[in-house]
This record gives sequence, C-alpha cells and structure tokens, in this order.
Amino acid sequence: MNPKAINGLQCHQCNWLVPADPFHYTCPKCGKNLDFVYDYDKISMDWSKTELNQNSEKSIWRFLPLLPVIGAPERTSVRVGGTPLVNFPELADKHGIASFQIKDDSRNPSGSLKDRASEVGIQHGREQGKVSIVAASTGNAGSSLAALTAYHGVKSVIFAPASAPPAKLTQIMQHGAQLVPVDGNYDAAFDLAFEWATTRDAYCRNTGINPILAEGKKTVALEIAEDNGWQVPDHVFVPVGDGCIISGVFKGFFDLLGLGWTETMPALHAVQAEGSAAIVDSLSRGGEIAAVEANTVADSISVDLPRDGDKARRAILESGGLGFKVSDDEILLAQKALSQATGIFAEPAAAAAYAGFLQASQKGLLKPADRVIVLITGTGLKDIPSAQQLLKQVNPVKADIAQIETYLKGLEE
Ligand SMILES: Cc1ncc(COP(=O)(O)O)c(C=O)c1O
Ligand SMILES: [Zn+2]
Repeated sequence: MNPKAINGLQCHQCNWLVPADPFHYTCPKCGKNLDFVYDYDKISMDWSKTELNQNSEKSIWRFLPLLPVIGAPERTSVRVGGTPLVNFPELADKHGIASFQIKDDSRNPSGSLKDRASEVGIQHGREQGKVSIVAASTGNAGSSLAALTAYHGVKSVIFAPASAPPAKLTQIMQHGAQLVPVDGNYDAAFDLAFEWATTRDAYCRNTGINPILAEGKKTVALEIAEDNGWQVPDHVFVPVGDGCIISGVFKGFFDLLGLGWTETMPALHAVQAEGSAAIVDSLSRGGEIAAVEANTVADSISVDLPRDGDKARRAILESGGLGFKVSDDEILLAQKALSQATGIFAEPAAAAAYAGFLQASQKGLLKPADRVIVLITGTGLKDIPSAQQLLKQVNPVKADIAQIETYLKGLEE
C-alpha cells in the first residue's frame, strides 16, 4: 500500500475525517467506530485488474494495495484467504434461483473467517511497534489470533468466556497464547481485553472497534467478486453477532465500487439467532440498537450489545439487505441440511446464514434471476456437541454381518 492512498479514517457518527497517523481505534471526538477512507484514483495509478490477474499470490495479500498496511508479512506460506467459492446448481434449481454459491471460509488455517482479520491485525500491530496483541473473543477470533501469532512469532493474550466451546479454548491454548477464561460473557471479556490492551501498551484486536479488522474481513468480498469475474451476486447472507463481518463485507464491495471494478452492491442480509438479535430487532423497530440478554446455541453470534452494530445497520440498509431471525431449531436443522446437501460442516453460527437463506426462500423473497451467496464463516468441527443434538445416539455393533444389516436398516428409519 502506498500510505498516501489513505485519506484518513472517517467516523460513521460525526463524519470527522481522522488522520491515519497516529492511529486511533475509535473517533477521538465522539468515541464511535471509524472506517478507512482511500483515494481510489491514487490506488488505481499503481494497480489494475490486469495486474491482479498476473499476481500468483493466493492469500489475502494479493489485495495488498487495498489494505491499510505498508507491507505484506514476510511469511505467507500459511495461507489466509483464497478460500473456495463453490457452486451448487442443484440447490439453485431446488430454490428456483439462477445460482447458489457457498463461500467456504471454514477453510482458513484456524477454521474461520476471523483469520482474515487476525492476519492484517498482526501486521498492523507490528507496524505500530507493539510486541503483543490482545483480543476478546467468543472463541474463533481468539483461536485465529492464537494460531496466527504462533506462526508469526508474536505474543498474544486472549480473553474468552470460560463457557466458550472447549474445542475453541483448547485451540487457543494449543497454540501457546495466554488464555484468560473470563467468568462472565463475551461482553465482559470485551471490556477487559480493551482495558488490558490500552493499559499494557498492547495492540487491541477487539472485533467491532479496531477498523483494521473490517479491512481484513473485507477481503472475503474481494475474493467473491474476483472469482465471479467482477460480477457481484444479488444477495449475500451473512451471520451476524457484533456486526463486524457484515461491515467488512460491505466495505469490500464498497471499495470495489470506488475503484470502478464493479457496478453494483449486493443486498447484504444479516442473519441473527432469535436469542441474540439486537441488530435485526433494531431494524424492525426502526430505532437505536438496544442490548439483549443473549442466549443461543450459536455461540459465535451470541452477543448482548453488538460492538459494530451501527456500521452493520448501515451495511444492511445501504445495500438494500434485510434482517432475518432464526431459531436455534432452525439453525441446527440448517446445519444438518447443509452438511448433507453440500459436504460442508459449518458451526452453528455459520449455519445460521444458511438458515436465513432457507427462510428467505420459503417466504418467496428470492426471484428466478437471483444469484445468491451464503457465507460460511466457521467449521463445525469446533463444536461437536451442538451437531450431536440432531444425530442418533449409536452403540457399538457386533462384528457380524447379519447384525450390521439390521443396524443399518435401523438407521434408515
Ligand atoms: C463463525 C462466526 N460466524 C459469525 C460471526 C459473527 O461475526 P460478527 O461478530 O463480526 O458479526 C463470528 C464472530 O465471532 C464467527 O466466529
Ligand atoms: Zn466521531
């Protein structure tokens, strides 16, 4: 990135254009969240679609000219991004739409889309001269940061609810990060992590306040557009907790429009769990986002007060998207249906996006010409007990062909 191509960071509340240097997490005037603002003409002077075509880099760093860091990390052999965009024509036929694709971000190194944000955050933290990185996490951001800081040789401290799925907490410790299992919910972990980072001169990788993270997450939109020959889809279904992923997806498509590489913005649909729907509720009420007492099987989107809620609302409204609320039953059924129709095992939060798509289809909101993408944000292997809720309990079968036959017949019932 040519640092001169950054005009500053704009506050989405008071609109102040904050200089990029020194870096601020939030608006120094009103404390609200910021967005990086680029000079697209300057970027276009050194970068074009043709140039990108000739770039053999497959990771998120292929989009370096559109990322707010000075240089790509020296080590990129653990590839973040470049995840599969898979077509499922039979699902498109079944739902009467032109195309149905899954962007499978469970295929990132630590198993979730969060790797995109961690990778850019680690690089930015280095450029800010910080020797350690702190994050609050419902599980995935932390396990992602733990894996990638291990790879890049950086120290990390992660605050996560002690109740997060054991696989995610284990993943954090396995990579040698310092885990603080907070006796409280994600919101408590969030405040503690921010205080720890700011008082200990560490870099703060808290989703929803650090604008760098949305810049990392936006690379998923850049890949979707590039893999579709710069023809953007009509609808993207995104699972939403804090609202940072959907803000990042919006930013990616917004930047492409700014560069003149694409011509439309897809409708970005926010899918939240019924028990954690602060953003979707605020859309139907037409008012401010109010905190809820979150309770859902989809741990990664279980959030009382969304930290990037206002930007998420803007992403939904400006893109012409809708809000969907899905019950825990719908999420678990969608998780199983997705696994069986596509071979993709999504965690409950990610499966919520598919549940939102199923709801939209059932309500007749999709048209025959529509091209739809569901964003799968994390792998189900991190939360086996949730998937087990809809699976039959199986007992060992005797090593006897006749008994095996009876057993398999039983499974079909
Ligand atoms: C797998 C998965 N999906 C969706 C989300 C929701 O992202 P956001 O909190 O940015 O809305 C998360 C966040 O932790 C996640 O890990
Ligand atoms: Zn402001």
